Amino acid sequence: IKRVTTRSLQSMRDRDEAITMLTAYDFPTARILDEAGIDVLLVGDSLAMVVQGHDTTLPVTMDQMIYHAEMVGRAASRALVVVDLPFPEGQIEITRSIEASARVVKETGCHAVKLEGGAEQADRIEAIVTAGVPVMAHVGLRPQNIHVDGGYRLQRDTEKLVADAQAAQAAGAFAVLIECVPAAVAAAITEAVTVPTIGIGAGRSVSGQVLVTHDIVGLTSGYTPKFTRQFADLGSALGAAATGYRDEVRGGGFPSDAESF
Ligand code: KIV
Ligand code: NA
Repeated sequence: IKRVTTRSLQSMRDRDEAITMLTAYDFPTARILDEAGIDVLLVGDSLAMVVQGHDTTLPVTMDQMIYHAEMVGRAASRALVVVDLPFPEGQIEITRSIEASARVVKETGCHAVKLEGGAEQADRIEAIVTAGVPVMAHVGLRPQNIHVDGGYRLQRDTEKLVADAQAAQAAGAFAVLIECVPAAVAAAITEAVTVPTIGIGAGRSVSGQVLVTHDIVGLTSGYTPKFTRQFADLGSALGAAATGYRDEVRGGGFPSDAESF
């Protein structure tokens, strides 16, 4: 199978073919998503929330990102694998961002990094790309900025968002992720750049879509945002498997003779 690359994503945008992207944090899940033909797997820092159980994305460390990226990198044979720079690796000294990005490609077999920001991060994006690591920029709602923003909210400043995306593109970003903006604003951003735009809560007028896998399969408990959609209920399936096993063990039905030596 041919590997998805930053180049093939660009030609998908040029041909108006929708790009699909989902988060992945471990080997078995990444293998299933890769075999399903998802173009881009994201080892998102959302793992702090959906895997580690934190309230925000801030606590996950670079070493933990590397640990998960190794598993996903090992599993993906077709998808391009992008790894988030966790807070604050994408915001502090530029040399540290380059080192973190280099770790991703050297230690995990993954292909690119994503960092939150646009215009203010342009020099950093350029430095990382120059060092040899492709960068996806992330504009709009920036979860790592939650304490500065005072919560997760819809981003509506069209002029700023367009400027962020254009600055990221000019700095060499191969794609721009757009989170939680009105559909018309995402359309304007997409029109203002030539690289692929990947939306989450950004409507349909973008080059592709991304969602958090745990949300679409019913593995996140409690609140899920309006922009997600549940395509399966693995939470219920897992619960049913556990109670089925429990009942069989308690009732003496497991293991059977056939399951014993
Ligand atoms: O960490 C994450 O899951 C993300 C989303 C935008 C998908 O960055
Ligand atoms: Na993220």
